[in-house]
Amino acid sequence: EKAGFDHFMMKEIHEQPKAYRDTMGSRIDASGSKVVLDEIKMTEEQIGSIRNVHIVACGTAYHAGLVGKNIIEKLARIPVEVDVASEYRYRSPIITPNTLVVVVSQSGETADTLAALREAKRCGARVVAITNVVGSSVAREADDVIVTWAGPEIAVASTKAYTSQLIAFYLFGLYLAQTLGTQEAGYIAGVVAELKQLPDKVERILGQAETFKDWAEQVASHENLFFIGRGLDYAVALEGSLKLKEISYIHSEAYAAGELKHGTLALIEDGIPVIALATQEELLEKTVSNIKEVKARGAHVFGLHAEGETELVKAVDQVFSIPHTLPLLSPALSVVPLQLLAYYASLARGNDVDKPRNLAKSVTVE
Ligand code: F6R
Repeated sequence: EKAGFDHFMMKEIHEQPKAYRDTMGSRIDASGSKVVLDEIKMTEEQIGSIRNVHIVACGTAYHAGLVGKNIIEKLARIPVEVDVASEYRYRSPIITPNTLVVVVSQSGETADTLAALREAKRCGARVVAITNVVGSSVAREADDVIVTWAGPEIAVASTKAYTSQLIAFYLFGLYLAQTLGTQEAGYIAGVVAELKQLPDKVERILGQAETFKDWAEQVASHENLFFIGRGLDYAVALEGSLKLKEISYIHSEAYAAGELKHGTLALIEDGIPVIALATQEELLEKTVSNIKEVKARGAHVFGLHAEGETELVKAVDQVFSIPHTLPLLSPALSVVPLQLLAYYASLARGNDVDKPRNLAKSVTVE
């Protein structure tokens, strides 16, 4: 049942290329230049009337939502807010009939996410669900459903569900852009072409998994570490940090790289591991200067950058190159090394990788 892998988590990490392909599937037209989302029943007029988007989810799905905000704002130019479902419910969010609420849930049964969906509907908003379970509560109650075809996810730590949620956001963002005319057809075709190359690029990263076994063995003896990044790299850093905490029980914090000097830099001391994500070309120089700040205080820095870049090499202790893609698409690649790092760190510490302590796969209580 684990298809030759020692744990479900590793099997599911390796199923990501297939999950990407299945989630894109027939949603890209035969010419490969645009997105077809027949499951979205919203009319052009309804899409045109959207004034703001609220993305609501928990945990890893919330982290996918943070990437989703970037995607929708960049492609469709609609303002997006992202909330943790257990907060959204109780903060009297301003929801109008022109608000589109997107709920994200692998299981489709998370109590707080479902309650947020109901609150959104009560206020007259239209709800789109991104879920991995056809026929789940969230799928049944939403107005429109985008199913992620990741297949059953058994390991408590979410991997392929998160990345297929990202793919769903790319498709949805492109679909909104096509409908609203916020991006030119040629630009959309270019993004679609790059999207289709992601599965092969994930496979290339998986072929280098040993690198992250090595990194994990170096961090496994530490009790604290940091993930830093800017922009989309920060969103991915949050997910990498959650994954590591969840299964290795090593405490980590994800920080927006430019925010460190406003307090957290005080925690950087000799030998502390820092995982620096620097895949976003236009932010590279700024991130490098933040890396220098932690290096100067004795941190051991592991860097992730886009293939072809050279600037990070001198600034960090160890570096891994992510296959080149559009900066907007890089989260779908750069999270994979962090999943592998968490997996191997959990293994190195002798933990139960698939069933971490205190946690359940589906959180149906508030
Ligand atoms: C972490 C993880 C959780 C879930 C969260 C939401 O690896 O799996 O943070 O993402 O409990 O679950 P769903 O997506 O089923 O609503």
